Amino acid sequence: MKYPVRLLSLSLLLASVALAAAAPRPAIASLPSRSATSLNGKWRVIVDPYDNGFYNYRYEAYDATGRVTGGFAEDRPHDDPGALIEYNFDTAPELYVPGDWNSQDERLFYYEGSVWYRRTFDAPALAAGDRCFLRFGAANYEADVYLNGNKLGRHIGGFTPFDFEVTGRMKPTGNSLVARVNNQRHRDAVPTVNTDWWNYGGITRDVDLVTVPATFVRDYSVALQRGAGDHIAVSVQLDGVDRTAGPVRLAIPELGFTQTLTVDAEGQARGEFALPGVERWSPEHPRLYAVELTAGRDRVTEQMGFRTIETRGTDILLNGQSIFLRGIALHEENPFRGGRAWSEDDARLLLGWAKELGCNFVRLAHYPHSVHLARLADEMGLMLWEEIPVYWTIAWENPATLANARAQLADLILRDRNRASVVVWSVANETPLSEPRMKFLGTLVSDVRALDPTRLVSAAMEVHSDPAQPNLRIVNDPFGELTDLVSFNEYVGWYDGLPEKCDHVEWRVEYQKPVFISEFGGGALAGFHADALTRFSEEFQEDVYRRTIPMLLGIPQLCGMSPWILVDFRSPRRPLPEIQDGWNRKGLISDRGERKLAFKVLREFYQEKAAAEAAAETIN
Ligand code: GCU
Repeated sequence: MKYPVRLLSLSLLLASVALAAAAPRPAIASLPSRSATSLNGKWRVIVDPYDNGFYNYRYEAYDATGRVTGGFAEDRPHDDPGALIEYNFDTAPELYVPGDWNSQDERLFYYEGSVWYRRTFDAPALAAGDRCFLRFGAANYEADVYLNGNKLGRHIGGFTPFDFEVTGRMKPTGNSLVARVNNQRHRDAVPTVNTDWWNYGGITRDVDLVTVPATFVRDYSVALQRGAGDHIAVSVQLDGVDRTAGPVRLAIPELGFTQTLTVDAEGQARGEFALPGVERWSPEHPRLYAVELTAGRDRVTEQMGFRTIETRGTDILLNGQSIFLRGIALHEENPFRGGRAWSEDDARLLLGWAKELGCNFVRLAHYPHSVHLARLADEMGLMLWEEIPVYWTIAWENPATLANARAQLADLILRDRNRASVVVWSVANETPLSEPRMKFLGTLVSDVRALDPTRLVSAAMEVHSDPAQPNLRIVNDPFGELTDLVSFNEYVGWYDGLPEKCDHVEWRVEYQKPVFISEFGGGALAGFHADALTRFSEEFQEDVYRRTIPMLLGIPQLCGMSPWILVDFRSPRRPLPEIQDGWNRKGLISDRGERKLAFKVLREFYQEKAAAEAAAETIN
């Protein structure tokens, strides 16, 4: 039966859309061994509060058809003095990329809207058959990207990587790369409209052109498996016309390990292998190995650690040994610059402070941090909790919101699942109880289990109380049924009474699972000294810590904590003049790097804890 052409083309179109929607592929990995041309540096910018460069005066999008006709993405030449063009990137101001715009120009400090970025570049030299991808480490919050007046695509989500293939779409020289970035908050976005952190907008992470062979390793994972002995599970996904061709070779030279994996019709290769002699990664012994993957002309190498993380009863086991997570929470902000942190140096500053505090664990709140954090944590010996910004009052019943959260979670896991330091995936923070919320979060937990069964899943839940028993605090969030760790934020002594209340509170955690305190603390302005009952004095914050720690040690299932927070951070919710001035002051370190009195209290506790564990290990 002959289909009318119109019907046939429609069915083909629908099929291609369905396929594209069905398999969200991971962004090309930012591997140090990949050939990449950095596009970091000064980009020209146009601030566009009315989105005048995106919509015409009838509010129709200039790029509705894919080929841009009008608007700022067209980046027209200015060689005709008679032509009416009311913008010019060549003479526009500049901003650094990576970098939020808020901290680079005080006129943009509170700005929420669109900023157009443009830079030109010459095409990298490609060998015959090579492919080229334009990769963004992140852009907050929505990005529309164009190359030479053609739309490459749109990405939604402020903290995860994305890329576009540009093979065959570049000119030898003078390519015009334009990106519209819009950081306006939306009720159905992830996060939603209210957060306790600064809404830094912009291209906030690295941008580069990545060159790969025609067939290359798009994604892979190599993970030590739980259970007896040292066994790794390997999965590799090839991309390219010859993805079903020759085998994939995995090598770990220091262990004399090489294996060849057969590729199936989908370009996938999988296998489980013994890895005798591997030294396990741990905070005390952050052992990394060079891992090499070869597929045809493609060869990727990176440093990887091998360890297992699991729970047994109320214990967390790292490599089969019970551990206590001596943590701290962290926002991704360089306090000295007062802007979004993005570089390896920024990561080294912040994680260096965590090590100074005596930590073996860091909670990267409340969104995916840059790829540098996990790589550096691998080297420095810090375990990580990574999370997506499903924060407070998300639009639980909006399918697009769920799809957005799932995409951000998948992008984060696929980006960092080869990092030994990452031990917890968290899917939410302080979300109010409801059936739609349980359904939404249940889907995210299923995604974690499917994408990465080797790590723990959790969420920062809330504490409840019973008016009939004023000193009892109860943790019975039904979501705790689904998680490996029962984690919750508590603020007895700050939001809930004064510090001495800690001495009277009893805890009832209704799960026989490891209990992790994902937040506690109080605010203090560094240098403000008074008695311990004067809020925002260093002495008050110190007293919160002095009384909270023994209170929490009374919880039998306690397996760790990440007090809120390592460093003061910017928040529009904190306007108290001369004390907050737009900063959340719960940091143990100020935005000028000053250690507050409470820093010493927590460090002493962690040092004693570590010494006791070391002594116990010596005895056993
Ligand atoms: C909450 C929330 C944090 C916030 C903190 C605070 O628990 O999770 O994002 O900054 O409390 O009130 O300081």
